[in-house]
Amino acid sequence: MVKIANIELPDFPLLLAPMEDVTDPPFRAVCKENGADLLYTEFISSAGLIRDAIKCKRKLDIFDQERPVGIQIFGGDEESLSLASRIVDITNPDLLDINFGCPVKGVVAQGAGSGVLRDIDLMVRLTAACVKSTSLPVTVKTRLGWDEDSMNIEEVAERLQDVGIAALSIHGRTRMQMYKGEADWTLIGKVKNNPRIKIPIFGNGDINTPQKALEYKNRYGVDGIMIGRAAIGYPWIFREVAHYVKTGETLAPPTLAERVAVCKYHLQKSVAWKGPKAGIYDMRKHYFQYLKGLPNIKTYRSRLVLSTDPAEIEGVLDEILLAYADYEIPHAPIELVNYHENCPM
Ligand SMILES: Cc1cc2nc3c(=O)[nH]c(=O)nc-3n(C[C@H](O)[C@H](O)[C@H](O)COP(=O)(O)O)c2cc1C
Repeated sequence: MVKIANIELPDFPLLLAPMEDVTDPPFRAVCKENGADLLYTEFISSAGLIRDAIKCKRKLDIFDQERPVGIQIFGGDEESLSLASRIVDITNPDLLDINFGCPVKGVVAQGAGSGVLRDIDLMVRLTAACVKSTSLPVTVKTRLGWDEDSMNIEEVAERLQDVGIAALSIHGRTRMQMYKGEADWTLIGKVKNNPRIKIPIFGNGDINTPQKALEYKNRYGVDGIMIGRAAIGYPWIFREVAHYVKTGETLAPPTLAERVAVCKYHLQKSVAWKGPKAGIYDMRKHYFQYLKGLPNIKTYRSRLVLSTDPAEIEGVLDEILLAYADYEIPHAPIELVNYHENCPM
């Protein structure tokens, strides 16, 4: 068993990575039902939260069925992070996560996200401010360092542990790498194997097959892994990894009927949570991912994204099910999109 403060997780837990505009309650429900052990919200601006921006407040929505769930915040000054931590505390998630990893220009320019990696003293002060302002366990998600000449994650891990964080998730890239190249887990392994480090260390970056998950577990010794992009349109990655890690056997991929059923369920949850207009709009980015691997799917896809009627969308999904009844989707590694400055999702 792995413990984050008082939160009990199974051996080698699988975490759903926080993703802006993706890890909302409907998507989290889909991942939870397919084996994710710990979920995170999208990141929330601490300054925005304090201004009571409607969009931010909505991001605080969490539901009992998805526990354990963490709310992630970002910010660049002690006062706003501290106030935001108190607001999160009242919302009562299972933990509060601080984002020191976002590489997007607008966030870094505010001195937040991975921008803080350039000043470890500041990072320590910001973290301490959060720890002091909430009774929740505080965790941190970050990257290896700002650039390849300043990969300071080993020092960061020790100093953040010393000010009271309960777990650390590390994305194996620097800020300057954004999403380019391949994630390097070597330093993540070093942090995990540092005898001074007692808190759980979760590895993150480029996990897209059960085989890679097990290989990285064995090679780097991490306490668990966090999966982001591979789960978009393929929430089954969690149950596939869990099964493979436990048994060494590959689970059969989801059938088309299962893909369609989960896509419909996601749509229903989205409409129920956001209302018909925003719920349908938000789903548009997901169809392509759920239907990946089906040949000549373009015409159906345009009908799915142009429709504003949930019943009609479900009808198109039923048509797809019939049209491809005899087609077997190849079980290839999930393609990971290379996100740059502006995430398309
Ligand atoms: C669309 C998108 C949005 C993201 N938003 C966040 C975020 O809000 N907070 C965060 O800590 N990381 C965010 N990330 C980074 C992911 O949590 C994760 O660290 C990264 O995608 C690498 O993991 P992966 O290779 O499994 O996708 C985002 C990534 C993507 C692709």
